Parts: sequence; C-alpha cells; structure tokens
Amino acid sequence: MTAYHSLIEVARLQEGEKVLIHAAAGATGQLAILVAQSVGAEVFATVGCNEKKEILLRNFGIPTDHIFYSRNASFKKGIMRVTKGYGVDVVLNSLVGNGLHASLECVAPYGRFVELGKADIKANSSLPMACFANNVYFSAVDLRHIYYFRRDAGYRLITKTMELFKDGTLQCPYPLHVYPVSSIEEAFRYFQSGKNTGRIVITAGPDDTIRKCALHRRQWAFHEEATYVIVGGLGGLGRAIVSWMVSKGAKHFILLSRSGAEPKAGRQLRSGLAEQGVVVAVEKCDASFADQLSEALKKSLETMPPIRGCINAAMELNDSLFENMTFMQWEKTIRSKCHTSWNLHNLLPDDLDFFVLLSSLTSVLGNPGQSNYSAGCAFQDALARYRTYNNQKALSLNLGLMRTIGAVAENKNLHRNFKIASLRPIEETEHLALLDIYCDPSHPVLQPDKSQIAIGIMTPAEILAKNLEPDELLHRPLFASFSRSRGALQQAGVERNTNYTALFRQIESEEGKIAIVVDALARKLARALSISPDEVELDKPLYSFGVDSLVAVELKNWIRKEFAAEVAVFDIMGGTTVEMMGGIVTKASIMGRV
Ligand SMILES: NC(=O)c1ccc[n+]([C@@H]2O[C@H](COP(=O)([O-])OP(=O)(O)OC[C@H]3O[C@@H](n4cnc5c(N)ncnc54)[C@H](OP(=O)(O)O)[C@@H]3O)[C@@H](O)[C@H]2O)c1
Repeated sequence: MTAYHSLIEVARLQEGEKVLIHAAAGATGQLAILVAQSVGAEVFATVGCNEKKEILLRNFGIPTDHIFYSRNASFKKGIMRVTKGYGVDVVLNSLVGNGLHASLECVAPYGRFVELGKADIKANSSLPMACFANNVYFSAVDLRHIYYFRRDAGYRLITKTMELFKDGTLQCPYPLHVYPVSSIEEAFRYFQSGKNTGRIVITAGPDDTIRKCALHRRQWAFHEEATYVIVGGLGGLGRAIVSWMVSKGAKHFILLSRSGAEPKAGRQLRSGLAEQGVVVAVEKCDASFADQLSEALKKSLETMPPIRGCINAAMELNDSLFENMTFMQWEKTIRSKCHTSWNLHNLLPDDLDFFVLLSSLTSVLGNPGQSNYSAGCAFQDALARYRTYNNQKALSLNLGLMRTIGAVAENKNLHRNFKIASLRPIEETEHLALLDIYCDPSHPVLQPDKSQIAIGIMTPAEILAKNLEPDELLHRPLFASFSRSRGALQQAGVERNTNYTALFRQIESEEGKIAIVVDALARKLARALSISPDEVELDKPLYSFGVDSLVAVELKNWIRKEFAAEVAVFDIMGGTTVEMMGGIVTKASIMGRV
C-alpha cells in the first residue's frame, strides 16, 4: 500500500519515467519495484549488500548498472553518470541525513521526491531550497495518518492493493521469513540485524506458547497525610484491601458499614491497625443515604487529613428469581450498589487519586436470581464511565469469584448461586495487583471505554484446555471477539455433544423420540441457565428454572433447528414441564415427514 500510494497516487509515476527506489530489497522496496514496472517506469535501486543486489538481479531483472550502494552517498554520482546528467523523475526515499540530501540532488526538473522515513521529519531537519528549482515537488507519506484520519482513502487503498495482488501485478516480497509466535524473539533479533530482506511473518498456531513477562511496575506508596474511604471496609475484601494499603504506607482510613465496628473481624482489624500507628475511623453509616454518609465523613475529617481516594466494597445480596423477588429485596441490594456509589461520587472531592467501585462479573454475564445485584453492578460500571468521561478518576472492577476472601469464600451456601463453569476463582494477590495499578496516583484518568475491567472468567480456549464445555453464555454475541468456541470445540475434537437431531431422526418409537427431546432439552436448559443437568427437574415448569422471554425465544429457535418443530413461546413460558415439552416437540416435528 505504501508503494502504490507513494508512486501512483502521490508521485503520479508515468510510463518511461525514471524512478530511484532506496532499500529496494526490503518488502516495501520490492513492491515499489513491481508497481513501477507495472506502469513501465525505468527502475534505479539502492541496496545495502551484495546478497540484496542478487535478489534484484535475479527476481526483478534490474540491470546491474542500475543498482547502487545505499550505505553512503556514492549512488548520486552513479545515477547522474548512467542517466547522462538527467537524474530521476521520482525518488522513493527512506535514507536519512546525507543520503536524503544526495537523493534530492538526483531529482530531475518536474521531479517528485517522496519521503517515507520519519527520522528527519521528527528531527525537523532543514533542506537546501535550491533543490526545489525547476518545479520539483517534495511529499511525505505516512500511511498510519491515512488510516486514522482519511478512513475512506485508506479503505480504497486496501481494496486497490488487494486487486493488484489478485491480478498478479503484485506478489509477496521475497523471501518470506516465517516465525511461529513462540519464536517471536528470534524474529525481532533478525529484524534488528539490518540484514533482513523480504517480509517477516509471525504465525499463531494452536500449539504455540507465548512467554508472559511481568511488567516491572514502579514502586509507589499511599500518602501518609491523606485519608482513604472504604465503604464496606470491614467486609471480607474490605479488610484485605485495608491491610494491603497499610503495607503500602496508608495511615488514615474511614471505614463505613451499617453495623459499625461490631463484627469480631472488624474489631480485630481495628485493634491490629492501631498497633501499627494507623488511624481508623469506623463509622456506623448506611452510605446509601446521602445525609448519613455526609455526616460520617464530616465527623471523621474533623481530625483527619483530606480524602485522597475511595473504594466502594459495599454489597448486600438478596438473591431470588426476578418474578419471586420482593421490592425490599430489590431495593436493599440496589441501594448497596447504586446509591452508595452515587453518594460517594457527589460527596467526595473531584480530584481523588483513585475511585474504585468493586462491581461484579454478574453485570457482564448476568445470573438468574441476581437481577438486583447485576443491575446495581451495571450502574457502577456506568458510573465509572461517566466519571472518566468527565475527566475524573474511576474504575469499575467486575470481579468474579474470590477464592479465599470475601462473602462467597466465607459462606459456602452462596457458592450455589455461582455455578458458572466459565468462572475462574480469583486469588487475593491478583485482585490486589490490579488495585496496585489503578490506585497509583500517577495513573492517568482512564479512557471511558477502559474504565471497566472484568477478571475471573475463562476464555473458551482455557475451558477447552480443561476438557470442559464452555457455558452457553460464551456463545453470546458479546463474547464473539474471544469466543469462536463452537469452531474451537470441533477443531479440538472435543465435540462431546450428543447429536440429538440424528438420534431423533433414527429412532422410530414415539416414546423414544420424546425421551431424546427431554434429554436434549434438560442439557440445553442447564447450559443456558448455567446449572448442572442434574438440577433440571423434569416435572417442573420451564419458568421455574428462570426461563424468561429471551431464553424462551432462544429455546424456540433451537427446537426448530434441532427437531424441525415449531412451538409457541407460550408453550415454553406457560406452565409446560420439561417432560411435557418432549411430547409437544415430538408431535410438532416434521423431521422425516417431508
Ligand atoms: N466476594 C466475592 O467473591 C466477590 C465477587 C464479586 C464482586 N465482589 C464485590 O466485592 C465487594 C466486597 O465483597 P465482599 O465479599 O467483601 O462482601 P462482604 O464481606 O459482604 O462485605 C460487604 C460490606 O459492605 C457493607 N455494606 C453493605 N451495604 C452497605 C451500605 N449501604 N453502607 C455501608 N456499608 C454497607 C457490609 O457491612 P454491613 O452489612 O454492616 O453494612 C459489609 O461489610 C462488593 O462490592 C462485591 O460486590 C465480591
């Protein structure tokens, strides 16, 4: 694209004109030769060594007296000699300093000089103006700029270049150096060597491994003369966060919860911190009420330094299927998320070092029985966006399942609400490592679309590697960019789904067909609702598993595809049990009848 754009669209290279192409054995150089030859131009080239010269002689038929050395300015004399003092009509330049000046001096009257290099432009180097006598043009090409700011032109350019490949005008540069991504370091070393010709290609195969290098992060500390507000600071995650912050120099905290310092764990934390010289104000306060929060902050700040950061770790779970949920259940959970976050946003200073909302993966994935919690967490995600859009610090952290700390780890009963195979338990260190990045006062305000981070979900590839089947939810369009799980399943040879369509077609008895539909439906429901197939009780209506209208439409379409049967959404939603659906589908199926 660089070659085509520079020579044809910018320099308007014509048949019979002379063109000088620097670094001609490189990928861009080789393609520039092909473009120039396709319009019938006479090509002069420079290369850095004899092997590269060989490539031009052998593959492009460029005569030896048209190939010069690029590592010094001697090519100028050579070109003027061969062209009998005329020079060239077009220069495609990538040389710097003296090489650039010598190239400019090769340009004939009405000639065009196209600069591809960036070094002299960045250095704001000067050019001798005499070179521009006789209507010489100077242009600089930067394709990146075109992609960003002239998208239409970029698109046309890609289309045009692909056409040229298709009709054979352009070919892949020679040779292609193909490295698997596992050997990317080797590829970079070769690239660095200055001996590279042609194009380096990195391929990613299923067996490739990539080295993860931990980024060396700067050491930083919380301000000693600052107060940090943690709502829910006496809860499981809150306590871990406070201990970590103390280890990084924080000395003043306001910890808020509705029950104050009563729970044993809270009292222990407070006395432990006092021994370390840390000042902690534990306030009994429902932060979802602005007046209570305002009062608690005011009282603490009478004796404490200004607030510089805040983490909202408040949560109250009241799980229930939406249709069974009382308003009180809805309200309490929502208040612990939306109202607490909004009040903090309004009452705390604008210029905090960090404002972290501990949200949950449920706002991204959904969870039947946690519509209140999911909605509250989604509000937190939106608030983080809103703040960053207004240039205020904010991060919404969509946490999955914490393995060792927090309400779920402390209460095994809660586990049954999180039976999503795609969840990967999160270690405390991982959670704190993220806070270490985003609480750093020097971290810039995030871009709104980067203000939400999800952690604790496995990608389909990771799930397949464990020989498990990805949850149905990973097939949703939201996950399309890292999903491709169905294809990957087949590729990996772990297509463990029974082919119910084939079985249904083969079996002749009605009871047999019904049994197949019931089994398939139970498995489908289990996947769609992220529960185990054993939990699907066949004599219960479908709605009792949390099948809402969206899931019903999905089931309807699935039934049509698998069993060639049209069933009404009403049949699915209106009190029909899984067993009864077996009969309805079998009766409605036209499979094998048409
Ligand atoms: N644990 C996990 O696996 C997990 C997973 C995903 C997300 N998260 C998120 O991580 C955060 C902390 O979770 P956790 O496991 O540490 O929960 P936790 O142990 O139940 O702690 C939550 C704390 O919030 C306080 N709280 C609730 N509503 C409040 C209100 N209106 N005003 C003031 N304080 C309030 C509670 O104290 P009182 O009852 O005394 O008010 C409690 O101390 C939550 O934001 C949660 O959404 C946790």
